[in-house]
Amino acid sequence: MSSSRKLSARAALIALCTLAGAGGVYAHGDVAPQPMNTDALPDVGDEWLIENPYRDQGEEVWTTAIEIGASGYNQNCARCHGLEVISGGLAPDLRYLEAEEYGDEWFAERFRTGYTQNGTTKMPAFEEVLGQKASWAIRTYIETRPDQDMLDEYADELHKMRDALADGSADVATVKPRLEDIAGKIETLSGAPVADSIAFRAAKQLDGSEDSMKQAAETLTIGLSVAH
Ligand code: HEC
Repeated sequence: MSSSRKLSARAALIALCTLAGAGGVYAHGDVAPQPMNTDALPDVGDEWLIENPYRDQGEEVWTTAIEIGASGYNQNCARCHGLEVISGGLAPDLRYLEAEEYGDEWFAERFRTGYTQNGTTKMPAFEEVLGQKASWAIRTYIETRPDQDMLDEYADELHKMRDALADGSADVATVKPRLEDIAGKIETLSGAPVADSIAFRAAKQLDGSEDSMKQAAETLTIGLSVAH
């Protein structure tokens, strides 16, 4: 074995050990929270609000909050609360928290202080590291998750649309309204009025251009592969 091969084998071993070590920390739930960049969102002041301020500030704020919230959620919450906010049983399913003051207040309380039982941290506190804007961005992402069972009912049709969009044979004039129609039928579990489903996203992306057809196909592909 040449010395460079030996070296890279050693590097691989070290990387493996580091990963194993990180896995150990993971299991205990005290991984350092990952900071989020929330500059693109309107400020909310220092006082903690009791209601999600990004819910009713227009579509642009709403969309930005979901985008930032999705990444923040995936980095900080998904390992316990589940990918796409679908709980695997380790921690409560957050999709059911009511998208109104009652649910928001409870959300903010848990987010800020976490949860400790008999001296064991079951959920870390996020107030210091992530702050209030991040909290409401994550909240917006969570409350707009679609009801997965409803989405599953349209999976076959969405697959077909995806294929037609991907190979360019789709007629956007019929596909777009049908996607909007499906999007309107898929509800949230939180009671929030609009579910940010893949049908909803793909419909918004379609503007008739070839590029937008590729984008919409990609959105459907990613969403459908998460579900199945
Ligand atoms: C290490 C695991 C872990 C991580 C990471 C975690 N949580 Fe939790 N979370 C829990 C557990 C366990 C509970 C249940 C605590 C209890 O019994 O009240 C919980 C409860 C909650 C609740 C209350 C839910 C309810 O129905 O009562 C909210 C809201 C919440 N978490 C939000 C978050 C958010 C937002 C994040 C990411 C910023 C996050 N959690 C990260 C483990 C975690």
